[in-house]
Amino acid sequence: MDNQRSTFGSRFGAIAAIAGSAVGLGNIWKFPYVAGENGGAAFLLIYIGITLLISIPVLLSEFVIGRRGQSNAFRSFLHLAPHRAWGTIGILELLGAVFILSFYCVIAGWSLEYVYQSAANGFEGMTQAQMDSRFNEFVASGYRPILWMAVFLCMNAFVLGMGVTKGIERCSKFMIPALFCILVMLAGVNLLQPGFKEGAAFILEPDWSAVTGQTVIKALGQSFFSLSIGMAAMITYGSYIKRQESLVSVSVIVSLATVIMAVLAGLAIFPSVFTFNVPVASGPDLVFKTLPPLFAQLPGGYIISILFFVLLFFAALTTSLSIMESLVAFFSDELHIRRISALAIGFGIIIVCSTLCALSQMPDSSLQVAGLNLFDWTDTFSSNYILPIAGLGCVVMVGWFVPKSTVEHELTSSGRYPLWIFRCVLFMMRFICPPIILFMFINGLVS
Ligand code: PFF
Repeated sequence: MDNQRSTFGSRFGAIAAIAGSAVGLGNIWKFPYVAGENGGAAFLLIYIGITLLISIPVLLSEFVIGRRGQSNAFRSFLHLAPHRAWGTIGILELLGAVFILSFYCVIAGWSLEYVYQSAANGFEGMTQAQMDSRFNEFVASGYRPILWMAVFLCMNAFVLGMGVTKGIERCSKFMIPALFCILVMLAGVNLLQPGFKEGAAFILEPDWSAVTGQTVIKALGQSFFSLSIGMAAMITYGSYIKRQESLVSVSVIVSLATVIMAVLAGLAIFPSVFTFNVPVASGPDLVFKTLPPLFAQLPGGYIISILFFVLLFFAALTTSLSIMESLVAFFSDELHIRRISALAIGFGIIIVCSTLCALSQMPDSSLQVAGLNLFDWTDTFSSNYILPIAGLGCVVMVGWFVPKSTVEHELTSSGRYPLWIFRCVLFMMRFICPPIILFMFINGLVS
């Protein structure tokens, strides 16, 4: 084990890696849809408000734990906590990391299959019904999704094997700008489509009549998920942020990046959906069934399909690196083993869990928990239970139990940044975030 903990080498590198974790599948296939269905720009404004008031303080509490604790998610908790019992939250976060990565890798594998399919055959001339059965057959085939998932995990292992700076940071510094450029290009092509106005209005026109109490709860859930809160990733990445770096500005920049990328994703997707008049959808159905035949009909459709699935792959890779890194850091710190051995353990656990998730999607699979197949259950359980409980645990511990001077030291980077920011954030950590997260959690349980 190295005595000297790695750090991100540059400010841009740190932001790229953290934004890489945040901007993932959720931003591309879910965020624009949720925004469109819940009032467009009205939703975006609520999302930004909620992010500033609640998600950023929670994210900052995770960064404070990681940067101060200088260890993995579990050990960092113990370093700061007044009692060992707080370590449970760290373990819960790591469990969340295993769950989320288990289904994330399967979907990432699908995106690789679709990069391959778009390059090999293209989707030209395919009807929506043909596309449906092609996707269903692929998922039900069992071995193909597992093969691609394994390829994806090997790519993860390759990048992580090179370390934090040379692996994660270098890869994110390339992939995040590339992701942005691809989104701009795809949105540009959509700009020329007859459905552009309608597609843009879907996410950018404010419709306050669609806003209800549920909208606020959806915005909060989306914001937490987008910012990778509650799953060990941000605590681990926090431990790699340099001492002099402002945690507050990193959080604000990354939050802004998630909104910009989601709006761009919306502009790259919905104009085509409206041009060809197909039902608006989200998630796997949108990207693997609805979009391919539509993209094939656009000018340069062959390239557009390839670019879109490469985009999905980049988004999934930079996100999965942050989750896998949390496990690698945990095993190497706790078992005092070399990074490469820790990587082998993490890889072994995830390949087993992801294989089970992939198999659970086969038609007569008995791999079910609480009436859901394993794939859907890991997603639901981590987002609805682990994420709010762990987020609440972090913000309560940092707000109330970590010495105020420590939090001040971290949030002002030892006096480099203004004190009033620290005071505002501490107020929100103490009085605003806990009741609202608790409310959101109970609401989720009831509904
Ligand atoms: N932020 C990712 C997305 O929007 O797809 C999801 C995610 C990644 C959640 C990492 C939690 C996590 F720890």
